[in-house]
Amino acid sequence: MTTPAAVIVDAAAYAQAVEDTVKAAAAYYAGGTSPLDDDAYDQLVRGIAAWETGHPEQVLPDSPTGKVAGGAAEGDVPHTVAMLSLDNVFSPEEFTAWTASLARRIGHDVTVFSAEPKLDGLAIAARYTDGRLTRLITRGDGTAGEDVSHAIGTLEGLPLELAEPVTVEVRGEVLMTTAQFEHANEVRVAHGGQPFANPRGASAGTLRAKERAYTVPMTFFGYGLLPLPDTEAALAARLGELAHSALMAQAAVYGVNTTAATAVPGITATTVEQVLARVQEIAALRATLPFGIDGVVIKADLAADQHTAGSGTRAPRWAIAYKLPAVEKITRLLDVEWNVGRTGIIAPRAVLEPVTIEGSTITYATLHNPADITRRDLRLGDRVMVHRAGDVIPRIEAPVAHLRTGDEQPIVFPEVCPRCGAGIDTSEQRWRCEMGRNCHLVAALSYAAGRDQLDIEGLGHTRVVQLVDAGLVADLADLFTLTREQLLGLERMGATSTDNLLTAIETAKGQPLSRVLCALGVRGTGRSMSRRIARYFVTMDHIRAADAEAMQQVEGIGTEKAPSIVAELAELAPLIDKLAAAGVNMTEPGATPPAPGIADSSAGSTEQVGGPLAGMTVVVTGAMTGALEKLSRNQMNELIERAGGRSSSSVSRKTSLVVAGEGAGSKRAKAEDLGIRLAAPDEFATLIADFID
Ligand code: IVH
Repeated sequence: MTTPAAVIVDAAAYAQAVEDTVKAAAAYYAGGTSPLDDDAYDQLVRGIAAWETGHPEQVLPDSPTGKVAGGAAEGDVPHTVAMLSLDNVFSPEEFTAWTASLARRIGHDVTVFSAEPKLDGLAIAARYTDGRLTRLITRGDGTAGEDVSHAIGTLEGLPLELAEPVTVEVRGEVLMTTAQFEHANEVRVAHGGQPFANPRGASAGTLRAKERAYTVPMTFFGYGLLPLPDTEAALAARLGELAHSALMAQAAVYGVNTTAATAVPGITATTVEQVLARVQEIAALRATLPFGIDGVVIKADLAADQHTAGSGTRAPRWAIAYKLPAVEKITRLLDVEWNVGRTGIIAPRAVLEPVTIEGSTITYATLHNPADITRRDLRLGDRVMVHRAGDVIPRIEAPVAHLRTGDEQPIVFPEVCPRCGAGIDTSEQRWRCEMGRNCHLVAALSYAAGRDQLDIEGLGHTRVVQLVDAGLVADLADLFTLTREQLLGLERMGATSTDNLLTAIETAKGQPLSRVLCALGVRGTGRSMSRRIARYFVTMDHIRAADAEAMQQVEGIGTEKAPSIVAELAELAPLIDKLAAAGVNMTEPGATPPAPGIADSSAGSTEQVGGPLAGMTVVVTGAMTGALEKLSRNQMNELIERAGGRSSSSVSRKTSLVVAGEGAGSKRAKAEDLGIRLAAPDEFATLIADFID
């Protein structure tokens, strides 16, 4: 996708655009805040460049085109070698054209390319003398930067001492991971400051702040290694000859963090197609990364090719940034809605002025809980930075505090349940209606009857509403004592539908414990967690006998979750008794029985002993076909666990096998990247044939 250029119609609009971009760049480089998001800034600069091409005699001296940092940044520490910016391309066509022009310039095709993520932070040069980190300098205007050595010791990945006593300069990007950003904003707001709008702004502001009462960690990724005037001659000569990929390997040997340690390591490639494929892979992985990237940087890898290509005043000719579509936009927070979920949780949701990110119109974003709103100091009418990557639910990164007009209004928290008017239990971070799951009984029952829980066919939302409205069910257990006469008395319920529904309800009584548990909707336990609990404890009696400590024996349940699960199961005791009395199954078939006599901390095993997938962690992605075609993702996971494996939804180094069907995207790419075994659905079906129902 090509970022469109802003349309500039006359000299006045041009002058205004120059002024706006200069202001934005200046604000950004001064304190890490900008009134324009990246996309808006890029569009304006493209528009300016387009207008200047047609009116070369009218180019204003302030114009940001052709300047490092848009001409905004300053500094007084000279760089030994200019710290340049990068030119951008936005599409495969533009990239291909760039490679062709580079080939013309150097007289042959680029020998080897390197491709690595374009990290979304800010550039710094780190000088090491005899292996010790002595100075940190920002990029500044490219020829001189600002001394930010006060940040030494706060940048993870940039060691105070290298593994070898060399005198070198490491260049790279300083950024905040998502976790570091959240921590930084919490600390900042706690100190009475205003939150930063996004991780990049937060790194820029934090790096430049000299006297602050607190320090917050950031992360460094190296992308350059060069000699300094004092570097030993032999080393200087060697560094001058090494390919970019070899320099990165050397930096890693010195102990500097590079992209090699991430899910998107730098690679080398010999053809344009390979590079473009890599761009797609990195784009697909973007949403899963714990740090922001805004593109892919492609470089001529060999020093010889770089020398022949040379550099312009703003950017090298041997490297290019392939920009990915922006995932962040600034919009306005119009309202906050409070919705009650099936467990009675009252969750705030942000209503936004519609904004388009990566082709989707965003009108809502999650807000987690009331404390989250307070912590982030959000107000109605605020301009907010909205982030959306991949299929992840959009989130508000932070308010853009410096764009406040003073008209913003506080967000009013509800005093009673917005659904039923009952009181609110505010004792935990997530507020809950005092009526609990009875507040939104329809949602709770629809969920319980769903395909991945009790799988009661014919009990959709409308029918549940009918049953609740008619007063026939007041909780989940009432479903199992419904009579033929009661159902026949409902509107649009004939004899056949009634009998079918009664049969489906009868069948549901025999569902495994894992599904019964899931149907109860204990907070913090979804489908896979319910399976793990059921497999571990095997019977409902054992689950109910477990205290927090015993509950923590189940994989994935930590000190925070365990007590709340135990408390909620106690709250559900009358309902569970009623379900058992109605004949609902309360055991997990096929799980290892717990050792006798240790009912209170009864330990089964979360993993099946034996089976073709014993000891394996399996991830399923894409559409299933053949014998597996009809299985939902949940049923696939159940199958994996029956066959002795562990199911997971995300690919990591711990994954043993990825079952990739048609349309598999980022998970497949990540598996290929990590060298994890891939299987097509048919191949997998053969492997576990004995376990398919
Ligand atoms: S190479 C002379 N590699 O992007 C080569 N830059 O928009 C210049 N950046 O100033 C830099 N990730 O701050 C390079 N893997 C990467 C990068 C990267 C992020 C930043 C860097 C640069 C800016 C240009």
